[in-house]
Amino acid sequence: MRLAVCSSKGGVGKTSTAANLAAALAATGRVLAVDADPQDSLGRAFGVVAKSREDSLAGLLEDPDLDPCAVVRRDVAPGLDLLPAHPSLEAVGVALAAQGGLVTGIRRVLRPLLAEYDHVVIDTHGDLGNLTLAAVAAADSVLTVFTSDPGSALGAARVAAFLEQHRRFENTTAVLVGVACSLWDAGGKAAREVAGALEGTELPVLQTRIPLSRRVPSATLAKRPVVLSSPSSSVAVAYRALADELLASYAAKVPA
Ligand SMILES: Nc1ncnc2c1ncn2[C@@H]1O[C@H](COP(=O)(O)OP(=O)(O)O)[C@@H](O)[C@H]1O
Ligand SMILES: [Mg+2]
Repeated sequence: MRLAVCSSKGGVGKTSTAANLAAALAATGRVLAVDADPQDSLGRAFGVVAKSREDSLAGLLEDPDLDPCAVVRRDVAPGLDLLPAHPSLEAVGVALAAQGGLVTGIRRVLRPLLAEYDHVVIDTHGDLGNLTLAAVAAADSVLTVFTSDPGSALGAARVAAFLEQHRRFENTTAVLVGVACSLWDAGGKAAREVAGALEGTELPVLQTRIPLSRRVPSATLAKRPVVLSSPSSSVAVAYRALADELLASYAAKVPA
């Protein structure tokens, strides 16, 4: 599976989901986590920070002669390697888009690495801009995340429309394999209404809900996602269940 985790806005739990899914998937196969967000939060979730542009996805996008194998950080967690982002990714993305090299850029960078991994998980910035498109163009599947904020349900529909448009443009063949509920407040009326509204649509809403848990921000501070730092906590159990549900959806929706 080559999964891009996308949303039309930030703060919905995307990076936490990407980090924990990557860690959960790495329990059964080799995983490459790719940070395609200039805010470099996925790397930070594992305590990885690029030293320079050349030490990151930004450098690899900018200079096709650089070797991606030399930039990937090996074994940042069991079974898991990571390609970090760098704040310069934003400017590199703008420059590359102007030259026509961005949409296919992440796909090009990842190609020589793919044979090493069972799964690739790409985290994106919370928007549907060109860097997110480049991540989707490198993926065969997309997961989006919503919360109890009604705006984020609309966001899930926007991601589905974005994907459909770029499939028609032949920029990507990726399929929306899941719409996951994060920051779930089981007692909240808004959360239930938003989830109910999404379940009434054609979108592939996943049953597993990631509960609100203080362990998630603490794990970021500790540079170790909850799946690794508190594996028996209810939120870690939920992330592992989400990984299983996602793999089942992937097997059903993405042609082999
Ligand atoms: N299940 C959760 N429970 C509590 N806080 C969470 C949970 N998931 C994410 N957070 C917190 O919410 C904020 C936004 O999450 P993040 O994963 O960075 O979202 P995004 O990548 O969409 O911007 C962060 O401070 C993160 O620690
Ligand atoms: Mg993020």
